[in-house]
Amino acid sequence: MKNHTDTSTHSAKLIKRIWREYMRPYKGTILFALFFMAIDAMMTVSFAKLLQPAMDEVLIAVQNDPSKVSGIWVYVLAILVTFIIRGSAHYVHSVMMSKMSQSVIADIQTSLFSHFMVLDLGFFKRQSSGMLVSGVISDVAVMRATVTDSIVGLGKNVLTLLGLLGLMIYQDWKLSLIVFGIFPLATFFVMRLGKRIRKVSKKLQSEIADLSALLVGLFQGIRQIQAYNAEDAEIQRTGKVISNVRDLNVKTAQISHLSTPINEILVGLVVSGIMVYGAYQISAGELTPGTLISFIGAFSLAYEPMKKLARLNNSIQQGLGAAERVFRYKDCDPQIKDKPNAQPATFDIAEISYDDVSFSYEDEDKGLINNFTLTLAPQTVTAIVGPSGGGKTTLMNMLPRFYDIKSGAIKINGQNIQDITLESLRKHIALVSQDVFIFDDTVARNIAYGLDELDQGRIEAAAKEAAIHDFILSLPDGYETRLGEHGTRLSGGQKQRISIARALLKQAPILLLDEATSALDNESEKQIQQTLNKIQKGRTTLIIAHRLSTIKDADMIVYIDQGRIVQKGSHEELIASDGPYKALYSGALDH
Ligand SMILES: Nc1ncnc2c1ncn2[C@@H]1O[C@H](COP(=O)(O)OP(=O)(O)O)[C@@H](O)[C@H]1O
Ligand SMILES: [Mg+2]
Repeated sequence: MKNHTDTSTHSAKLIKRIWREYMRPYKGTILFALFFMAIDAMMTVSFAKLLQPAMDEVLIAVQNDPSKVSGIWVYVLAILVTFIIRGSAHYVHSVMMSKMSQSVIADIQTSLFSHFMVLDLGFFKRQSSGMLVSGVISDVAVMRATVTDSIVGLGKNVLTLLGLLGLMIYQDWKLSLIVFGIFPLATFFVMRLGKRIRKVSKKLQSEIADLSALLVGLFQGIRQIQAYNAEDAEIQRTGKVISNVRDLNVKTAQISHLSTPINEILVGLVVSGIMVYGAYQISAGELTPGTLISFIGAFSLAYEPMKKLARLNNSIQQGLGAAERVFRYKDCDPQIKDKPNAQPATFDIAEISYDDVSFSYEDEDKGLINNFTLTLAPQTVTAIVGPSGGGKTTLMNMLPRFYDIKSGAIKINGQNIQDITLESLRKHIALVSQDVFIFDDTVARNIAYGLDELDQGRIEAAAKEAAIHDFILSLPDGYETRLGEHGTRLSGGQKQRISIARALLKQAPILLLDEATSALDNESEKQIQQTLNKIQKGRTTLIIAHRLSTIKDADMIVYIDQGRIVQKGSHEELIASDGPYKALYSGALDH
């Protein structure tokens, strides 16, 4: 019992929240739709009511007096008018409702996406992108159906039902009492199915999310799949998830359609009962045939809204399940954000110091970085080398605050990076990493990514410096050529040059290069290396690289293993002493 109350208050809270955050702005549209639903309902009731005089005053009466037949025209006309009005009202409120529900859903999607954009990197490492896509697309679609169902249900169906019940009571209140006594039974039964539906639907949505996650992963890894001849295995694996989704869908249908046979039988019984009772009442002169027909008409018309209302609970349960997941994402607070008193910073030259920094990824006890201290002098190049998994990327990621450190401080020109605004911090940092991202946009916009204005002169200058200008001119539309998903494909080296041009255009005093050239072949690497050497001038640069040719000329080389500095110095110094750097250097093929 307690559990039941908990679920109800929880549901009530969810509904209130959906209303408050998303539906309230559309109050006007909803009221407008409700008005037309009321007209729709009124016309249904009018039709049932008109059956009575049409029957008694014309159809029955003409048996004794054939001249009364012309009276039918009045009722035919009246009935026709009710149907015309009902149809038009239905059209208006349906269109209003889709307008409203589509807007609500677009608002939810927009706000969910904007929320994702400010969440920290850690969030995206924990969630698969397929899950997030499924949240924005399929959960939100379920919510839309529920929003429409509830308003149409509570508006049109409740009004129609009330009107028809009123008519039934007006026509014969004793008969109505009997009918009302039986019908709630059916409703009760259907309501009970709701709980089971909610459970299955929750499973179904999470299975759909799994499927999206799986597909996203597979499409990304298609090269590997084909290289390892794993197509059949993947088809089987995906097939299993697809049939899980199918089974759960079938199960939902089985449960929700269970209400139909039970209701059908009940309706049959009730209609038979009414006929028998009516026949005796008519023979006793207590009831006219017209009243009985009108009563049966009202009852038959009431069946549809009653069924829909009984099912409404199922739809609401499904929608609440989806809303729960959507709100779970919305309630993830960004971990990395501005302090309340954060100040914007501006600087042209940066001295960076890691001051006794410790860090670990969330669920690890043992710190990954422990008491790390290092100062990067302004406008110098510092290279980090060491075994993979040693924490190099982690150290670099702390600087733009992709992750926040657990203790110690990272300072730029003596100012703690936690005390300045994230936006101003990141504005001063250019990052080039191994996994270049090319956006589905023009070359020019890809280079000027994140900048408000396109300055063609500066874009071209950056492209020239990144040694990609000539290539861009050879493209069909030059700088206006579309790249990415729907445009021209680029080689690894070309992508890397675009990303270098992007970093150059940013003109940031701090440059981070995380294995920027690792994905390239030797020849492209050598060419890009010259560019990189050039752009490091005048900037405080932190490089992570494997190729020794990349790091030999750095002002300082730091060898890192297990989050600690093992060796530090210039290439000449390090090579002179026996240590891991020398071992690395002698083991490397390309000097
Ligand atoms: N987002 C993350 N969540 C949890 N652990 C991570 C994450 N990123 C990296 N790690 C772990 O931290 C360690 C250091 O990784 P990383 O800094 O990428 O090393 P490197 O760049 O030196 O190869 C590795 O053991 C890696 O598995
Ligand atoms: Mg790394």
